[in-house]
Order: sequence, then C-alpha cells, then structure tokens
Amino acid sequence: MTTTGTFRLATVRLGRGGPAVGVQGLGCMGMSFAYGPTDTSEARATLEHALERGVTLFDTADVYGAGANEELLAPFIAAHRDDVVVATKFGIVMDPQDPTRRTVRGDRSYVRGSIEASLRRLGTDHVDLYYMHRRDPAVPIEETVAAMAELVAEGKVAHLGLSEVTADEIRAAAAVHPIAAVQCEWSLFSRGVEDGVVAAVRETGAALVPYSPLGRGFLAGLFHDAEEDLHPADLRRILPRYTGEAARSNQALLSPLRHVARRHGATLGQIALAWVHHQAARHGLPVVPIPGTRRPQRVAENTAATRIALTPDDLSLLDPLAAQVVGARYPGTLAPS
Ligand SMILES: NC(=O)c1ccc[n+]([C@@H]2O[C@H](COP(=O)([O-])OP(=O)(O)OC[C@H]3O[C@@H](n4cnc5c(N)ncnc54)[C@H](OP(=O)(O)O)[C@@H]3O)[C@@H](O)[C@H]2O)c1
Repeated sequence: MTTTGTFRLATVRLGRGGPAVGVQGLGCMGMSFAYGPTDTSEARATLEHALERGVTLFDTADVYGAGANEELLAPFIAAHRDDVVVATKFGIVMDPQDPTRRTVRGDRSYVRGSIEASLRRLGTDHVDLYYMHRRDPAVPIEETVAAMAELVAEGKVAHLGLSEVTADEIRAAAAVHPIAAVQCEWSLFSRGVEDGVVAAVRETGAALVPYSPLGRGFLAGLFHDAEEDLHPADLRRILPRYTGEAARSNQALLSPLRHVARRHGATLGQIALAWVHHQAARHGLPVVPIPGTRRPQRVAENTAATRIALTPDDLSLLDPLAAQVVGARYPGTLAPS
C-alpha cells in the first residue's frame, strides 16, 4: 500500500455539531510519555508530516508527561492554529513518584483549574475538544459535564468529549450538553465498545475516537513480549495481554492478520487500522482513530491505511480475533472503573 506522493485524508464531521477533521487523527502521548525514550525533533517532524497528509485532530492530555506533552505541542499549535483541532483531557491525577498509581477528579473546581493549566501549556486561548479522561466515581457525570459546559460558554473550549465511559454515562452527559466525541479503546483486540457504547454514541450524534487502534503497537508487529522487547520505563510492560504467556498466546492471533496483509500488499498495522476505519460503515457513525506514532514515515504508512477496503472474506478472518485475546487491557490499578 503506497505511502508516498500527494495524499490527503478524507474529512469527516466529529459529531453532529463538531468540527470537520481528517478521518484519521494522531495520538501524541508516546511523544512524551509511557512508551520509553523520545526524540523531540522527530516528534515535531511527525506532527508537521501528519498535517501535510491531512491529519488535523491532534490528541494529548494534561497527564501525559505531567503536562510535557501539551508543552511539546505548543509551538506546532502556534504555527498552525486555524488548521488543527486540538484535543486534550483532564481528570487523571497521577502520583508523580509512580505513574501506575492515580486518582480521578471531576469536580467543578478541578475542571476549572485544569483548563487554565492546559491552555497555558498549549499556548492557546481555547481547546477545540475537551475530554473528561475518566469519570470521577464521587461526582455525578452531570455535574462534571455542567462544569465543562461552562467552559464552552466562556469560549475556553469549543466542543466536549468523554473517554472510557459507559452507554448510560454517554446518555446522561449528552442530556446536559452536546457531546462531540467519545474516546475509547477499539481495535482488532479490544471490541468491548460494541456492547452498547457504539449505539449510545450513534444515538447521541457523537463521533467515536478509537484509541490504541494498533493494540499499542502489538498489532503492527512492533514487539512480541513487552517485558522482553521494550525499554524498562515503558508502561506497556505492565499491560497483562502483552507480556509473558498471554503475549505468546496473543502473538499466534496475528497470523490471520498477516494473511490479510499479504493479500492487500499492506503492513500488519495498515490492516489493523483498516479494520477500525471499516467500523464507521459497519456501525453507521463517524469513527476517527488516533494511532500514536513519533515517526513521520509511520504517519505516512498509517494514513495510507484509509485507502484499504477490506472484503467480507478479510473480515471473516479478522472479526473473531478479539474474542480469543488472553489478558486484560489494563492491570487492576489502572482499569477504568
Ligand atoms: N483515552 C485514553 O484513556 C487513552 C489511552 C491510551 C492512549 N490514548 C490516546 O490514543 C493514542 C494512540 O494510542 P496508543 O499510542 O496507546 O496506541 P497505538 O496507536 O495502538 O500504538 C502506538 C504504538 O504503535 C507504534 N506504531 C505506530 N504506527 C506504527 C506502524 N505503522 N508500524 C509499527 N509500529 C507502529 C508506535 O511506535 P512509535 O511511536 O515508535 O512509532 C507506538 O509504540 C495515544 O497517543 C493517546 O493520545 C488515549
């Protein structure tokens, strides 16, 4: 599948009232957090290359590198403010000594303080899409969304989003203020959202933004066993499905993916992404995955996946994989409640 020449992503509206964006976004988390050592100049080149290929949705969060990821994006945003849709998130409060320990806040004063800090780090006067990263079990979601809606009224935020929420939470939130996007893990290996969340997103007129669409790199063949192959500081080493016995078992699930990739002359990652993009037509809603990469050439590869049309035969090989995955998405301490 070609990655060179003139290429522009198709665009799609992010929810009924949301902004138009390239149909594939860019996850920026790994540029400063969670996935081992990073190279700032390569990260910046990746951002520029993504924009050239029609990527306009750039995804970050206040918690990625304790603000460092938002700061990394600031010069890029300043240079292209009107051409990019900046999405950030609040709500996860990480223990600076141990990123595997964290709490969640969704009360009004926390929401108001968080947006001010994000705007400062991002170097902009408004965020285009502001997500509740996780729901605070101590605060009714209506209260958190009402606080977020105040930010819209004040012009600090253009659109609202939710991450890792249930179908009922989506409906409750949308009754308070329109929700443009719901961000959840959705991939060949993680299809939990199809049990109700997708229907609620469609019903409320939002878009679905799948995160970790490449199974954090495992589906692209980036590593075999996170503990053996990745840097000691890489957080993937604690994700149950990517280490030890589970990783070995899940590795075997990649052979149908390899088979489909050969048929299309594509890479594993491209087929994994093409499957996620296919869910838009299958479920009848806008789907804008945000694969994460720090490398310009991978942006070219990943965006080219939007041109792959999977056949019914391909889907019959790929659809059964998720049900066979061994191991949870997160360890107990990090599991979304
Ligand atoms: N809402 C949430 O709770 C939540 C949770 C997790 C992530 N996210 C967001 O979703 C974004 C994407 O998720 P993710 O980064 O966890 O997982 P992902 O997109 O499934 O995978 C990213 C990993 O795959 C590698 N990769 C990317 N393209 C590749 C290719 N073509 N070939 C081989 N390897 C490739 C990347 O390495 P390189 O960087 O070295 O290319 C990186 O290690 C994040 O950046 C973040 O913005 C949100």
